[in-house]
Amino acid sequence: MTEPAAGPAQPFGEASDDVDWEALRLRAVELMERAYAPYSRFRVGVAGLVDDGRVVAGCNVENAAYGVALCAECGMVSELHATGGGRLTAVFCVGSDGQALMPCGRCRQLLWENGGPECLLMTPEGVLPMTAVLPQAFGVDDLRHAEG
Ligand code: THU
Repeated sequence: MTEPAAGPAQPFGEASDDVDWEALRLRAVELMERAYAPYSRFRVGVAGLVDDGRVVAGCNVENAAYGVALCAECGMVSELHATGGGRLTAVFCVGSDGQALMPCGRCRQLLWENGGPECLLMTPEGVLPMTAVLPQAFGVDDLRHAEG
């Protein structure tokens, strides 16, 4: 199977066209408005479509011990598992301007684990598959390989 090439913004076939990106963005904005970010004052919200049609979401939650801040994606992935699991198929992360925000490195890894290579992410350059967002990702297959 040929994977979509990394590159400029464009929809990736029917999967992306089928996603109601504006609904996801609006849900992410709702969550961003509930962020607890008194230290950085950088509010983040994220919403993800699950393969059974659910929408899960999260906001960042900071802590006086700065290093233990929870990214918005952590909350979203927690809701994913708490409400029945499944796979993320499309994700929209926003900053306080309500526009697409690229997830940090750790959270790209979370999206990879819970969405895999075909999960779509809205980026400032348009919709991209996770293969473009986290190239040559480390994942469960690497663990199996290392077991020999
Ligand atoms: N943050 C997220 O919630 N997600 C990201 O992908 C990037 C960073 C949060 C963590 C922290 O509360 C604030 O943004 C500033 O780094």
